[in-house]
Amino acid sequence: MSTDAFNALACPLDGDSLTQAGASWRCPAGHSFDVARQGYLHLLPVQKKRSLDPGDSKEMVAARQRFLNAGYFQPVAEAVNAAVLRDTIGTNHPVACMDAGCGEGYYLRQLATTDLQLSLIGLDISKWATLAAAKQDKRPRWVVGSNANLPVLPETLDVLLCLFGFPVYSEFARVLKTGGVLIQADAGPNHLRELREIIYPSLKPEKMPAEHAPEGFSRLGTQTVSYSLTLDSQNAIADLLAMTPHLYRASAEGRARAEALASLTVTVEVTLQRFLRQADPATTTP
Ligand SMILES: C[S@@+](CC[C@H](N)C(=O)[O-])C[C@H]1O[C@@H](n2cnc3c(N)ncnc32)[C@H](O)[C@@H]1O
Ligand SMILES: [Zn+2]
Repeated sequence: MSTDAFNALACPLDGDSLTQAGASWRCPAGHSFDVARQGYLHLLPVQKKRSLDPGDSKEMVAARQRFLNAGYFQPVAEAVNAAVLRDTIGTNHPVACMDAGCGEGYYLRQLATTDLQLSLIGLDISKWATLAAAKQDKRPRWVVGSNANLPVLPETLDVLLCLFGFPVYSEFARVLKTGGVLIQADAGPNHLRELREIIYPSLKPEKMPAEHAPEGFSRLGTQTVSYSLTLDSQNAIADLLAMTPHLYRASAEGRARAEALASLTVTVEVTLQRFLRQADPATTTP
């Protein structure tokens, strides 16, 4: 329906609220953050960076953008959209939603096609991912930042997406409103099994999701999105390989075997978990 940029931003240095002043955002202590020419905001202080160019590289981002925009994971996006629609019935509009580790922004672009009135923020530690996201859609707020120190004010989000990402539950619990929802997608045990069989000499058992809900959350539900996907070009196979950790984990021979294929049918198997942010025990009256 309508999509706006989320504004309840916090200074990554002291947590105070940021206000926009022209082409920069400032906190009361005078820390100032400039909006980049392409429209994204850099809120990852150098002293909190673990490397010079953290997160996904420019090449990985470009491969993911081509692959996702071709629609190969659209059923996953549809399941995420359906979960957001179902879990925000009765929520005041606009629905404030963050994608933590948003990559090049595919899932927020897909969410913006629903009938929901949205206030969106996509955050990624990779400058390349955030830049690619900002180039494709000007409506959401795009931020370079870390899940370990979300530059967002406490209890301001209705929905938090963590899709094939790196969850930091204490931070997710801090920024979600009570009654807000965390939607998490991870690779299931059979995800891309056929590709892994080609690139690795033997397959390691995949780790299963923990049974317990993270602290501060209760489990709303778990579902599996599963289908068979045929990639019939070497470029699409190369893009899939480049957007997964397998590109680095596989041996040169393993990668060469995958790159030689003209077509490949793979299983897509994604586990979608939904968690409800519970009231803090300290704030509930007995
Ligand atoms: C596998 S990709 C998934 C991207 C996107 N969610 C998608 O499914 O298209 C993981 C993303 O997490 C980002 N990332 C890694 N560490 C992060 C952190 N500490 N905080 C935020 N993002 C991070 C990477 O740069 C990368 O874009
Ligand atoms: Zn500050």
